[in-house]
Amino acid sequence: MEKNTNKSVKGFSKLSKKEKIRWIAENFFTDTEKVKRELMSFWHSNEEQQKVLDGFSENTLSNFVLPFGVAPNFVINHKTYCVPMVIEESSVVAAASSAAKFWLTRGGFQAEILGTTKIGQVHFLWKGNIQKLFDILPDLSQNLLDDTQHITANMQKRGGGVLDIQLVDMTHLEKYYYQLKVSFETCDSMGANFINSVLEQFGKTLTRYVAEHPSFLNEEKEVDVIMAILSNYTPNCLVRAKVECPIKDLGNFGEIDAPTFAQKFYTAVRIATIDTSRATTHNKGIFNGIDAVVLATANDFRAIEANGHTYAARDGQYRSLTHCSIENNIFKFWIDIPLTVGTVGGLTRLHPIAKRSLELLENPSAQELMCIMASVGLAQNFAALKSLITTGIQKGHMKMHLMNILIHMKASEEETQEAVHFFENKTISFNSVREFLHQKRKTIHSI
Ligand code: HMG
Repeated sequence: MEKNTNKSVKGFSKLSKKEKIRWIAENFFTDTEKVKRELMSFWHSNEEQQKVLDGFSENTLSNFVLPFGVAPNFVINHKTYCVPMVIEESSVVAAASSAAKFWLTRGGFQAEILGTTKIGQVHFLWKGNIQKLFDILPDLSQNLLDDTQHITANMQKRGGGVLDIQLVDMTHLEKYYYQLKVSFETCDSMGANFINSVLEQFGKTLTRYVAEHPSFLNEEKEVDVIMAILSNYTPNCLVRAKVECPIKDLGNFGEIDAPTFAQKFYTAVRIATIDTSRATTHNKGIFNGIDAVVLATANDFRAIEANGHTYAARDGQYRSLTHCSIENNIFKFWIDIPLTVGTVGGLTRLHPIAKRSLELLENPSAQELMCIMASVGLAQNFAALKSLITTGIQKGHMKMHLMNILIHMKASEEETQEAVHFFENKTISFNSVREFLHQKRKTIHSI
């Protein structure tokens, strides 16, 4: 069959899954049959389960597999968790586990919810008198609430719903631009669909209400709703996780004693607070842990990332999400981070492994899950900084990465065991492993 040289296609979405695979394989690959087989080899053996997975997205061909692991020994608010993590990067789960183990005997993690309020906005243009708009706000708000009663009733029964409606004048930044800024409580759900449904109705009600209101002149009657959507920035849906202990209880780190470790650690956090380049990497390390739990529980990692990074830049400069203090010989290390997560709704109960992840965590509430994620982020940062200020990151990271390199180089079981032993106290790199295997294989061939 001739290759489609411009590789465009009409009606692709309407093809069956097998037809889609065939089109991809024939137009983008030379080893067509192998590609087809490979993609299909990752289909779930249970057809019903595969249907569920296919339903999560569009134009699905197969499943993209990532490791699902656990970090045990997380004591958070005196309860011990075995935390599920989905991540493709070596040493992340080991680092989280190692920090959890470290703090297990030092009081564990303490986490507290500082707020659970989420935000949504109706952005609109309006050319009328602003005072008149503010004057009608109480009655308008009642109309907005009445018109969304059918959407909010169940959430209200659970203790949530719309908390507050504000009118915000943005005309100093953009001519005629106003917002309805709405606060929500969404209980154990992340609440994105709920919030967006309410906001879209708010947009319609606002337009109708102003058009019908007698106090507005003809030219003022037209509200131009630009969009109605939740904000992924939720500075008031915030959690704090903390570890602390007397400096002497930190123990020694090779040649480095506890006071020196504490001071170096404090300075490392301080550097991430004042230097944006370092803060970005520092926070990336925190999200190594948080994202892995977010993925394992089928929460929205894009929302979590966007939220955290905006929060990190809330005073105008991007800074560390974690903080450290040394006072009265007490070492304290903590994170404040906005996290909007759900333990019901979305994919949390639809994805078979996410469901198991939540069971593994003993079916936490959204607030409990926020505490767990923040603690894992803090643990991850602790482990990374501990390595950075003592041995350097490469030692531990490459120790874990060694397996990846060996698999990539098709090392046998015996070669793998010997390599692990050989590199125990040596610097691991792609080249050094390649050279090790080359030497070993050369020796065998020459025998
Ligand atoms: P180690 O001291 O060689 O580990 O540390 P160990 O063999 O003595 O074991 C101690 C504990 O670590 C174990 O306890 C486990 O909890 C855990 P045990 O289970 O024996 O009772 N552990 C493991 N867990 C699962 N699988 C394993 C494993 N090995 C140890 N194979 C370790 C090794 C990697 C933990 C340490 O060097 C470390 O924490 N390094 C930091 C690694 C890291 O942060 N990786 C993230 C990727 S790097 C990055 O992207 C972020 C960064 O740039 C962020 C930043 O700059 O801030 C660093």
